[in-house]
Amino acid sequence: MSDKLQWGVIGTGRIARTFAQGLRHSRTGELAAIGSRSRQGALDFAHDFPATCHSSYEALLTDPRVQAVYISTPHPAHAEWAIRAAEAGKHVLCEKPLAMNFQEAQSIVDAARRQGVFLMEGFMYRCHPQTLRLVELIRQQTIGEVKLIRATFSFCCAFNPQDRLLNAELGGGGILDVGCYCVSMARLIAGAVSGKLFEEPLEIKGLGHIGATGVDEYAVASLKFPNAILAQIAAGVQLDLENNVRIVGSTGSILVPSPWIVGGEASAFSKILVFKSHIPEEIVIETDRGLYALEADHVAEQIAQGRTQSPLVSWDDSLGNMRALDLWRGEVAGVLP
Ligand SMILES: NC(=O)c1ccc[n+]([C@@H]2O[C@H](COP(=O)([O-])OP(=O)(O)OC[C@H]3O[C@@H](n4cnc5c(N)ncnc54)[C@H](OP(=O)(O)O)[C@@H]3O)[C@@H](O)[C@H]2O)c1
Repeated sequence: MSDKLQWGVIGTGRIARTFAQGLRHSRTGELAAIGSRSRQGALDFAHDFPATCHSSYEALLTDPRVQAVYISTPHPAHAEWAIRAAEAGKHVLCEKPLAMNFQEAQSIVDAARRQGVFLMEGFMYRCHPQTLRLVELIRQQTIGEVKLIRATFSFCCAFNPQDRLLNAELGGGGILDVGCYCVSMARLIAGAVSGKLFEEPLEIKGLGHIGATGVDEYAVASLKFPNAILAQIAAGVQLDLENNVRIVGSTGSILVPSPWIVGGEASAFSKILVFKSHIPEEIVIETDRGLYALEADHVAEQIAQGRTQSPLVSWDDSLGNMRALDLWRGEVAGVLP
């Protein structure tokens, strides 16, 4: 048997395919099994990404070869399958948002703690060297005292009420789908200012537009952090925005043109722009693997070191993010955690 970490994938949708593609470039992991709600779903997936097929998620969890499970179902199913995976003794990488709300997220963390397995929320951008470099720039006070963080992640998907992005029963809406990144980034940067891994907001004010399917199609929020740091964030699934992060400090600013799907899915260059005068300094980051391969390798390294959580996305970090998302959703009429 290979000494690489053996992955089982739960769900066969868009991101499952992206992750399986990433695994092909991983140094440490390989796809062992795929679990779908249907035999055909597993077979179709395995046609492109050869692996043992399971016609149910339960069956995948009883596969002794599977060491780590990647959960890529719509958000409402994350809690059930993350908990069941942990109870089956599997390490867990669960897609973002970790759950539908704080309470569910807490149950997942409790299960991982009880079972002594690794658990990480799939914030892949946190595993990319670009994000690590950004944190370093903030810690080094490259732009002086940070005052404002602006983060946007919003796109306009085709209007299909059945799609998980717009379907309320499948956890649709922009706040959970992409607002989670903006909250996560703001908390990361505010934390870096005081040498912490993340910081919790003192206050969150939000507004949003609820569309015909009853989900938040686009939403904005203002956050106040300690150290006089403010954040403005925007997220949506029915609104095209320029998706970037700008951090304004007392002596300059930083622009991250591609903060989320960093460098695309394959190995690539990405850049951070630092403005201290009119001419920006360009910091180029090069990777030899794509974003999802880096994420899978990060998980495998943590597991190999006997860790149950990652310092890049710790359990408390995910719980804090979920708490903030609950507050934001609570502010947007009709969207209750
Ligand atoms: N980190 C990232 O870059 C990233 C990017 C996109 C999405 N995501 C996250 O990944 C998760 C999945 O997103 P996606 O875009 O891949 O979704 P998707 O294309 O709709 O696929 C979801 C898959 O989950 C399974 N599933 C289980 N219960 C389901 C249900 N009740 N209805 C529909 N499908 C169900 C299905 O697979 P089977 O039928 O085979 O069981 C389906 O193919 C979401 O939580 C999302 O936030 C993360």
